[in-house]
Amino acid sequence: MSMGTQESIEQLVARMAARHRGQRGMLLPLLHDLQEELGRIDDATVAAVAETLNLSRAEVHGVVTFYHDFRREPAGRHIVKYCRAESCQARGGAAIEAALAERLNVAMGATRGDGQVTLEPVYCLGLCAIGPNALVDGEPVARIDGAAAIERIAARVAA
Ligand code: FES
Repeated sequence: MSMGTQESIEQLVARMAARHRGQRGMLLPLLHDLQEELGRIDDATVAAVAETLNLSRAEVHGVVTFYHDFRREPAGRHIVKYCRAESCQARGGAAIEAALAERLNVAMGATRGDGQVTLEPVYCLGLCAIGPNALVDGEPVARIDGAAAIERIAARVAA
C-alpha cells in the first residue's frame, strides 16, 4: 500500500512495524519495507523507527549506515552496482571502474545530477571467474573488460 498524503512518517512506521510485531530482529525487515516504500531512510524515518521500536536513534542510525543496501538519499532511475571485491579487482577492476564512472558521468557512491543513474560498490556477486562484474538494475553484467562493455552499460542506463 502506498503512503497516503495524510499519513505521517510516524503513522507509516507504526503501520509497517505492525506487520513484524512479535518477530525477533524486526528492525532489519522494517527498514527494508520502509526503504521500499520511501526510496530511502532519512533522519525523520530513523527517529520514527527508534521511537516505535523503543531504540535509540544511534542504534537505528548505526544499522542504516552499516548496511550498504540502505540509502540516505533516493537512488537514480537506474542503479549500477560495480564489484570491488578481490577477484574483480585482480582482473583490472579499478581501471574499469574509473572508466565506467567517467562514461556514466557519476562518481562512485553518487547519483548523477539528472537522477538518471546511481553508481555504487558491491562486494562480490558470486561471479568471480567471469569478472569484472556489475549489477545493472539487479541484472548481472559480466566480463566488463573494456570500452564495448562499458558502452553496453551506458546504453542500458540511458533509457
Ligand atoms: S569478486 Fe567480483 S564477483 Fe566475486
